[in-house]
Formats: sequence, C-alpha cells, structure tokens
Amino acid sequence: MTTTPQIDSQALEAFLAQAVTDAAAAMSVLLSHIGDRLGLYRAMSDSEPVTSAELARRTDTNERLVHEWLSNQAVGGYVNFDPETERFRLPPEHALALAEENSPALIQGMFDMVAAVYQDIDKEVGVFRTGAGLTWPDNHHSVFEATERSFRPGYRANLVQQWIPAVAGLHAKLTAGAHVADVGCGYGTATTVLAEAYPASTFVGYDYHASSVDAARESAARQGVADRVTFEVADASEITGPYDLITFFDAWHDMSDPVGAAWAAREALGPDGAVLLIEPLSHDRLEDSFDPLGRFGYAVSTLICVPCSISGGGPGLGAQAGETRTRELFTEAGFTRFRRALETPLNLMYEARP
Ligand SMILES: C[S@@+](CC[C@H](N)C(=O)[O-])C[C@H]1O[C@@H](n2cnc3c(N)ncnc32)[C@H](O)[C@@H]1O
Repeated sequence: MTTTPQIDSQALEAFLAQAVTDAAAAMSVLLSHIGDRLGLYRAMSDSEPVTSAELARRTDTNERLVHEWLSNQAVGGYVNFDPETERFRLPPEHALALAEENSPALIQGMFDMVAAVYQDIDKEVGVFRTGAGLTWPDNHHSVFEATERSFRPGYRANLVQQWIPAVAGLHAKLTAGAHVADVGCGYGTATTVLAEAYPASTFVGYDYHASSVDAARESAARQGVADRVTFEVADASEITGPYDLITFFDAWHDMSDPVGAAWAAREALGPDGAVLLIEPLSHDRLEDSFDPLGRFGYAVSTLICVPCSISGGGPGLGAQAGETRTRELFTEAGFTRFRRALETPLNLMYEARP
C-alpha cells in the first residue's frame, strides 16, 4: 500500500518562489547576452544615467525593445532606475562585470555559455537517452567561444601573477627558457598568456579539435607570439616530449581516457619535469558544493563535460571530480608526487611529478 505524502503548503510556496526566481534569472541571463551582443552595456559604461531613447540612439536599436530590456535590467538590479527622471544607470562596478572586455571581473563568458548550451538542447536530451555522449567537436560552435571568453579573464589576471609562483622554481625555469606542452589547449588562451610572459620558453598546444587549433594559431599570431608557440591537432594520449612542464587547463576531466592522458604526460616529461593540472573548483563530497558555483559547475558538467568524456567510452569524471579521485587517477598513471598547489574561488591547481 502506498501512502500519500503530507504536503506542507509553506514548503511548497517557498519552493515555488525559488523556482520562479530561477526562471527569472535564466530568462534574464539571455537578455544580458543580448545586451552584450548589441553593445547596450558598453554604451552605458560611463555610468551616466540614460533614457531608453538615448540608449537606443547610441546603439542603433529599437527604442521600445530597449525600454523593455532596461526594465528587466532594473528589476533584476543590474541597472539603477530613477522614477523621477525615468533614467537608467549602469553602476561602475556592474560595468566592470558586464561591459569591460578586459576586466578580470567580466562575467559575459559565463552568460555566453548559458546561451550556447541552449543551442544544443535537442542533442543534450538525446544524449541522456542514448548515453552515447557528445564529443567536444560535436558541441555548437558558440560553446567553444564561450569557453574561451569565460576562462580568459582568469588566465590574464592570475596565471602568471599567482598560479605559476605557487610552484617552487617554476617562474625562474620559465624565465630562463623551458619547453612547455599545453594539453587540451582549446583556443590556446592560457598557452598564449604564458608565451607572452616567458619569451625565452617555447610552447606546444595540443588539442584533438581541429577548429580550436586553428583559432589558437590565429590568436597566437594576433598576440605576436607565433615565433614561440605552435599548435597541433592531437589526442592527449599522443603527445611526445620531452617537456619541462605539461599543463592541462580545465580539460583533463573532459577526456575519455584521463588516466591515459596523465600517463602520456608522465612519459613525455623530461628530467625534473612537472605536470600542472588546473581543474574547476570541486569537492569530494556533493554536499560541500551546495552553493551557486557548485550548481553552475554541475550544470556545465552534465551538459558538456560528462558527455565529452563518455563519448569515447570514458569514466565521465565531470567538472566536479574532487581531489581524492583526481589524486587516485594520477597515482594510477604512475605519478608518485601529487599535491594541491593552489585553491582559488574558481579553480584547483595540482602539481604532479613522477
Ligand atoms: C573546457 S575546454 C578547455 C580549453 C582550454 N584548455 C582553455 O582553458 O580554454 C576542453 C578542451 O579539451 C579538449 N579535449 C577533450 N578531450 C581531448 C583529448 N582526448 N585530447 C585532446 N584534447 C581534448 C577539447 O577539445 C577542448 O578544447
């Protein structure tokens, strides 16, 4: 006999309020993405109050729609609204997150990712049914662009300034001239940031996705570092060294054979070489991730990271693999030294040595 659970109407109301907040936020993220594409935030980045007519004129957009967009932004607290003057103002702190492309606080890449995964919604539903996964190249191209834009501010602000110094002697080694491989390099942003900072070193970026490798080559040429950075289309298991340093930036957990990738990296290390593994911040226990970043991380992991790994028969580590599991797999790949070198609000960085 089944029993009907008692319904606590207050709990129901509280939950519905949360769900409506989520739906409003999800819709509003798409509006933020639209505002970014149309240059609406950039046109308000001087933090001067504007009317919808002025903003529409500045951005060559439709006033009625801009007014509705501004109203949504005001309700969400993204812009301020003065009812007396009917003017809207983007506070300077919000401009740093929404309008300044080179700001370390830029959040638009995260919003781009939300818009990007909606493009592939039918494929994602299908993947749940078939379990066949979705290789990285199978994703909509806007996923690649969103990935680059969401990681770029962190790499530019932290990689050379904080992350490299967290490994003893690494800054000096790269300054003197080292040979570096960046595995799963994507658009090569981290590779290029390192190449700019360490002109005496040489860098090879590897990725199995040909169009990402093309984008990485173009980016290196644009940044004027193509003399010391090359990019190759290759699976992580195929790299050959010797390298003084091998990096994985937010890519290892996506791989179908993470132990094989770590194994190949170990084999490709030269004397005194090290692997730097940069992963999204994650915890061993699910209940330690009960915060907005954990929620976002599990969402991206469900839609992109796990499908990518299982597409090749992999374990589907996901973006929230946790330190214990990561350490176990690196030990399985023959590393004897593995330490958490750094924790940031968004990432964990591990140093592994044979
Ligand atoms: C989340 S993206 C990160 C890209 C880049 N490292 C960054 O930080 O911007 C993951 C990358 O791993 C690559 N990747 C996944 N599996 C791979 C494999 N088996 N071999 C090489 N690259 C792989 C994907 O093509 C993708 O470019």
